[in-house]
Amino acid sequence: MRSYTLNAPAKINLYLEIISERSDGYHELAMILQSIALADQINIHSLSTETIRVHCNHPQVPTDKSNLAYQAAELMARQFPEAFVKYGGIEITINKHIPVAAGLAGGSTNAAAVLVGIDLLWNLGLTQLELEELGATLGSDVPFCIAGGTVIATGRGEQLSPLPGLDHIYIVLAKYRSLEVSTAWAYKTYRQQFGSSYLRDTENLAARAAAVHSGEIVKAILEKDAGQIAEKLHNDLERVVLPNYPQVLQLRELFATVEGVLGTMMSGSGPTVFALVASEQQAQTVKQQVREAIPDEDLELFVTRTITHGIQLV
Ligand code: C5P
Repeated sequence: MRSYTLNAPAKINLYLEIISERSDGYHELAMILQSIALADQINIHSLSTETIRVHCNHPQVPTDKSNLAYQAAELMARQFPEAFVKYGGIEITINKHIPVAAGLAGGSTNAAAVLVGIDLLWNLGLTQLELEELGATLGSDVPFCIAGGTVIATGRGEQLSPLPGLDHIYIVLAKYRSLEVSTAWAYKTYRQQFGSSYLRDTENLAARAAAVHSGEIVKAILEKDAGQIAEKLHNDLERVVLPNYPQVLQLRELFATVEGVLGTMMSGSGPTVFALVASEQQAQTVKQQVREAIPDEDLELFVTRTITHGIQLV
């Protein structure tokens, strides 16, 4: 029986700007997404019966239809019914390392790995664009997770323009295990509080989304200048998450004072806060200092780094 194991990296947002609301209820965004080495491993193999099964070593991760990886398999079975009959069902085993509900695209990258894995398992020969289009129907971050790297993402987050890869920046991640922030809540609250400043006319909207391409953070990325990238980090969702989640605010303020931190920001809708650091050794020191300042066992800390790829076969 054929089987594939894929590495599914997490992401952080180096930049997240909310431009306006869309008629489909989503928001028009300008983001810079960055893959990181922290990853889950996904094994996919064929079953002799036409069923979809998901297993995960993490107790908080559902294994039913609410799991985005399950939905990815279901989507492929629906799109390619002949292959589903020919090759049989799918068993998906998720080895979780990425914190769940963290703003790190953990669920999205698992779904991306399932799309790539089934494409291989069923010999479909889909292009990256075809996989991204399928991914966009599952979630806004899924298309990015397929090829990963350093990417400008506009529209809902599914329109991707790759940038040269950054592979030399170290990252310390901090997340309280028991703390979760709903992405839908964060966007809804942002709309309620700041919706009056949204752009309304489509011409300005296109210009604003295009402006990110020539923005200062993109210039810093092109120059691979970690210090400048760190200075230009931005996330509009901090405006609603930080005032409502004092623990996230505390982490954000603490990171800003720790020696060796080039810059700090919340990732996506949170609650993970990250710090950019120049070397692995400094990252370990930063991690240790945060641990000493907050000895709470509920706080998880990781040292990782930027990488230049998304889903890969192991
Ligand atoms: O696409 P995804 O399911 O990951 O999005 C989760 C939630 O985040 C959506 O239901 C929506 O409330 C919000 N969202 C948004 N605009 C985007 C992406 C996400 O409002 N561009």
